[in-house]
Amino acid sequence: HRTRVAVVGGGPAGLMASHLLHRAGIDTVVVDHRTVHEIETTHRAGILETDSVRLLTQTGVYGDGPQRVLTEGDRHGGIHLRFDGASHHLDFERLVGNSVWLYPQTEVFTDLHRARTRDGGDLHYGVSEVGVHDVTGSPRVTFTAADGSRHEVRAEVVVGADGSRSVCRDLVAGHRRWFREYPFAWFGILCEAPKSSPELVYNRSETGFALVSQRTESVQRMYFQCDPAENPDDWSDARIWDELQGRLAGRDGFELIEGPVISRSVLPFRSFVQTPMRHGRLVLAGDAAHTVPPTGAKGLNLALADVRVLAEVLVDALAKDDLDLLDEYTDRALARVWKAQHFSYWMTTMLHRSPGTEGFDDLRQLGELHSLVSSEAGSTYLAEGYTGWPTR
Ligand code: DHB
Repeated sequence: HRTRVAVVGGGPAGLMASHLLHRAGIDTVVVDHRTVHEIETTHRAGILETDSVRLLTQTGVYGDGPQRVLTEGDRHGGIHLRFDGASHHLDFERLVGNSVWLYPQTEVFTDLHRARTRDGGDLHYGVSEVGVHDVTGSPRVTFTAADGSRHEVRAEVVVGADGSRSVCRDLVAGHRRWFREYPFAWFGILCEAPKSSPELVYNRSETGFALVSQRTESVQRMYFQCDPAENPDDWSDARIWDELQGRLAGRDGFELIEGPVISRSVLPFRSFVQTPMRHGRLVLAGDAAHTVPPTGAKGLNLALADVRVLAEVLVDALAKDDLDLLDEYTDRALARVWKAQHFSYWMTTMLHRSPGTEGFDDLRQLGELHSLVSSEAGSTYLAEGYTGWPTR
């Protein structure tokens, strides 16, 4: 079997790459060891930057029909920063003339999967024994399909969009890796309850960070900072609500509307970058090349931004038969990656409590938050990062 581009990883990054290349007349084959059902039921983040929404709506992911992200998603004009028991609204529309959309990553995946299926995409989910070979010569991707048949796909280029446990990233010879670990994680829940707030609440408290997010009118998403070794099964509904209510309580009397907890899990937390993002005929995109901590919801947006640049550069490189043009991808993508790394790190360290930093750092953190919300420049800086920087 031959194709022009083999895509390893069929999450949003891999599918968007396949979709954009298809639109440019370039054939792809997509493989993923997970099943479609597994991906559709793994809860991920929920906030899309303006340009991520644009990429979905302006590239025919929905065809000519109603744009699901616009009809099913919720436009959010800002966020609340909450600390010292009081909320401060940051109005992104006023500050930067921009907004974000609450639209879960699982829905983005579903939309892209439908688009690729509609357009006759060659997609293989639930495969095993994936091998990626000879990425500096004549690349081949081998795998065992869900029906047990063995396949070999020869390609001109391999896109490694295989997520935070990427096997493709190890094939980049001479790579460099940068890490930052954090002494905490997030406890994430879905609950059956009406919205407690129309927009997200990023909350800093003496007992740690909490985030109030939404999903639908009747299902909500919330998170709170926890120990990375926390076992979700140790947390009854009552204990979860006590923890969340305690962190969000304040002199304004704010209270969460409680309901049955229908999903609970502990989310990993780290910063990671690998460079370069190209080696021979292999290019990395999304979490395969970088991971951000979840604060600020940059992971999916960054992956889509990678792929937008990658598709542009790859189409050009294939047309001119000059793969060295792919180096431009690493340079352009990394400029945004490090901005997002800083933004996610900054939002994290500004809002979480690190064990052993009581005292000076607590009070300094409050000083930072007070200066941010009382400064037009400070608030604008956050709004620019949150809604997303322009793509070069
Ligand atoms: C969500 C997740 C985030 O990490 C974030 O910063 C905002 C929202 C979410 O899942 O809704």
